[in-house]
Amino acid sequence: MAIIPLLALPLILYSPSLSSASDSLTKGSSLLVENTNDLLISPRGTFIAGFFPVGDNAYCFAIWFDEPFCNNNCTIVWMANRDQPVNGKRSALSLLKSGNLILTDAGRITVWATDTVSESSVHLQLQESGNLVLNNSEGDILWQSFDFPTNTLLLLQPLSKDKQLVSSRSQTNYSSGFYKLLFDNDNVLHLLFASPSITSLYWPDPELLVFEAKRSTYNNSRRAYFDPLGNFSSSDKFFSKSADYGANFQRRLTIDSDGNLRLYSREDKREAWTVSWQAISQPCSIHGICGPNSVCNYVPSSGRNCSCLRGFKMKDVTDWSLGCEPEIKLCLTNETNFLRLTNVQFYGYDYGFYPNYTLDRCKEVCSQRCDCPGFQFRFSKHGNPNNTPYCFVKFRLLNGFRSPSFEDDFYLKVPITSPYPAPVEESRLHCAVEITKLDRVYTKIPENGTLKFLLWFASIVGAIEFTGIFLVWCFLMRTHQTSVVVKQDYLQVATGFRKFTYTELEKATHGFREEIGRGAGGIVYRGVLSDHRIAAVKRLTDEASQGEAQFRAEVSVIGKLNHMNLIEMWGYCAEGKHRLVVYECMEHGSLADNLSSNTLDWKQRFNIALGVAKGLSYLHEECLEWVLHCDIKPQNILLDLGYQPKVSDFGLSHPLKTDSHGISRLSRIRGTRGYIAPEWVLNLPITSKVDVYSYGMVLLEMVTGKSPTADIEDRRLVTWVKENIKGASAMDLSMEKIVNPDVEGNYDKTQMKILVGVALKCANEDKDTRPTMRQVVEMLLQYEKHNSESVEFTIE
Ligand SMILES: *[C@@H]1O[C@H](CO)[C@@H](O)[C@H](O)[C@H]1NC(C)=O
Ligand SMILES: *[C@@H]1O[C@H](CO)[C@@H](O)[C@H](O)[C@H]1NC(C)=O
Ligand SMILES: *[C@@H]1O[C@H](CO)[C@@H](O)[C@H](O)[C@H]1NC(C)=O
Ligand SMILES: *[C@@H]1O[C@H](CO)[C@@H](O)[C@H](O)[C@H]1NC(C)=O
Ligand SMILES: *[C@@H]1O[C@H](CO)[C@@H](O)[C@H](O)[C@H]1NC(C)=O
Ligand SMILES: *[C@@H]1O[C@H](CO)[C@@H](O)[C@H](O)[C@H]1NC(C)=O
Ligand SMILES: *[C@@H]1O[C@H](CO)[C@@H](O)[C@H](O)[C@H]1NC(C)=O
Ligand SMILES: *[C@@H]1O[C@H](CO)[C@@H](O)[C@H](O)[C@H]1NC(C)=O
Repeated sequence: MAIIPLLALPLILYSPSLSSASDSLTKGSSLLVENTNDLLISPRGTFIAGFFPVGDNAYCFAIWFDEPFCNNNCTIVWMANRDQPVNGKRSALSLLKSGNLILTDAGRITVWATDTVSESSVHLQLQESGNLVLNNSEGDILWQSFDFPTNTLLLLQPLSKDKQLVSSRSQTNYSSGFYKLLFDNDNVLHLLFASPSITSLYWPDPELLVFEAKRSTYNNSRRAYFDPLGNFSSSDKFFSKSADYGANFQRRLTIDSDGNLRLYSREDKREAWTVSWQAISQPCSIHGICGPNSVCNYVPSSGRNCSCLRGFKMKDVTDWSLGCEPEIKLCLTNETNFLRLTNVQFYGYDYGFYPNYTLDRCKEVCSQRCDCPGFQFRFSKHGNPNNTPYCFVKFRLLNGFRSPSFEDDFYLKVPITSPYPAPVEESRLHCAVEITKLDRVYTKIPENGTLKFLLWFASIVGAIEFTGIFLVWCFLMRTHQTSVVVKQDYLQVATGFRKFTYTELEKATHGFREEIGRGAGGIVYRGVLSDHRIAAVKRLTDEASQGEAQFRAEVSVIGKLNHMNLIEMWGYCAEGKHRLVVYECMEHGSLADNLSSNTLDWKQRFNIALGVAKGLSYLHEECLEWVLHCDIKPQNILLDLGYQPKVSDFGLSHPLKTDSHGISRLSRIRGTRGYIAPEWVLNLPITSKVDVYSYGMVLLEMVTGKSPTADIEDRRLVTWVKENIKGASAMDLSMEKIVNPDVEGNYDKTQMKILVGVALKCANEDKDTRPTMRQVVEMLLQYEKHNSESVEFTIE
């Protein structure tokens, strides 16, 4: 059935006299999908509007260039219902008496409407420019297709504020794809890759600062268009001439399904379109083009060529955008080898940046992490007078790109008993470079007024867009000369999450119905995302005066963290006054709930203690930026399906900015009564030891079942425990006085001794005698190593 109208099309196009096509549609009339000559044709016949077949018995109402014999492969410039095609029977575009223009599917459902209202007469006309205009008898424009572009701009059609071009899914599938051209919050015209789980900007080159890309953030009129001669220009000072600039050609600007933005031109409709300008010359630098775990190769003859990394296979052989998945899921820790891939770069998704790390040191860092698939190693002389190597440890492999111009190598983690015998190639780096401890960037930035101002200023300009945050950081790096050179060419972009719209989250949570918790400054709701993932959506209260600052803290801090014992953030939303954060949802709720219902056995409790300690140790010491949590309590420890703990709620977290004595000060008390370290009250310097204290209180609560918020004051709890275990190292029985009798099952005596010992050390009044979280992890692991053999562990 669908074939007939297809073949009929060119005939009609060439003989407009045959068609019933008039030049306008008036009130009460319709264009029917069955009538293949129900078309609107522009005055000189350049454009046609009508039902266009997009699949088997599926039609979209579209505007296309009149081209001879284009069959079902005409140059479409606009579509009303690209994501919801209508049936080939009894579907119609009707101009109602009310003035509303609607598209109905199979005579019933309205799939699209202009929502216009007019008392007087109305006309729908296709203008010679390709603009479909609905106007009234006074000549006012009620609606026009130029205001709702799909993937193409026509001559002088502006792309304006809040409008975007969205690519098609593929060359043959016209529904909305993953690539967008839009003005971002920084007033700059960008190309954006936005798949269901990832968003990242890739044009202008994200490695450049705005002014380096010759763009400006100051003009907020946000307008881009191309003129008849072939000059494409935008209000951010971008402009570019087409190769055939000056010629009086037909032109169109299209964001293609491969993510490139191209200006096409041709002399007239009998010719094929030629590309007269394109935004991106290297197709492999378009983000997401080959999907995850793959490498894009540029082949001059055939364009790009995607290939899976070794040990990975294509997820869907028809669609590269889904990338590759591991053939076997492995957790590789120290039984690993590394495969060197020369001249390969993976953009973004770094755990951290380790300057001056040797190759071996870099391998060690990656080996120790189960979730590190590999690392980027750079030893370039470019802008690097000291010849120091750089190590970028990855947690995801996206935007892989091979180019002879890259000096970087990528090292892919493979099993030592690998089916691939290829030995790890020797690195270019032979001279063993002595390594100093990782020089943490943030600790070097002095807290001074100018910087604060710059940060504030840049944040306003860059808005909350994640790239904004990255730019702020770069900005800081560049303004501050010492130790900056090294970091300049490095990008700390953890773009592993996306920005959601408010409507999306409203829909996901069914209008914020199911409350699952309350955290600092916000309520948490359960939601189901469009890709069926269950999420926890935290909506920050707007009366919290620090709302926005807190929001930024959450987004910038959590976005960079990645550890199995820290909650994973999937995205955020910043729209108007709305501030929301989207996290993974934990099946078993909070530790607080589980403690009050007594669902955890002793083994689980010990594992939780260890997991939380690991998460906090990472937070304090291993991540690039030192971070304090400041609000450790059972409500903020969530449990997954396997009762693995994840520390959540970084609402009060605070990047630890230390002065020359390694001391930092915060202006006001943060945390929850019962878990707050004494130094807050005594106005002593705040260090990571405040989290250690809170952790100690949580351990005591897990052991004794007594809550320092409800049952007993925190210091009295500590004293009570100490009094009741006197001589415990000699006499194990005395533990029985303090352990929660309601918990089922036997506890391991050694384990309990260690747990209580650690808890008391952590809850020490004097911060300097408290262990660090790393030492806590070591103490707890000591038990695991020796298992139940007797461990010397004294309790003071
Ligand atoms: C559609 O037309 C374009 C340009 O004329 C051509 O490159 C492409 O191969 C055609 N596609 C099909 C499916 O015929
Ligand atoms: C509005 O419609 C009338 C009647 O078709 C037409 O003459 C007039 O040019 C149109 N005005 C505009 C601005 O398109
Ligand atoms: C086009 O792509 C969309 C999204 O991937 C898909 O849902 C739809 O079925 C595709 N349509 C055709 C005709 O293949
Ligand atoms: C293109 O347009 C921009 C902005 O309107 C203008 O600054 C530039 O001079 C134009 N270039 C040419 C070659 O006309
Ligand atoms: C901002 O851009 C618009 C449109 O490109 C232009 O007309 C206007 O003059 C610009 N304003 C400034 C202050 O440059
Ligand atoms: C694409 O890359 C693969 C792997 O590198 C190679 O085997 C293949 O020949 C390449 N294809 C083209 C067309 O170059
Ligand atoms: C991993 O390394 C540790 C110490 O570095 C060693 O004791 C352990 O045996 C190694 N694991 C395996 C599976 O080889
Ligand atoms: C790298 O480490 C070596 C050895 O500690 C040191 O001499 C050198 O200054 C370091 N380079 C940089 C840029 O920090």
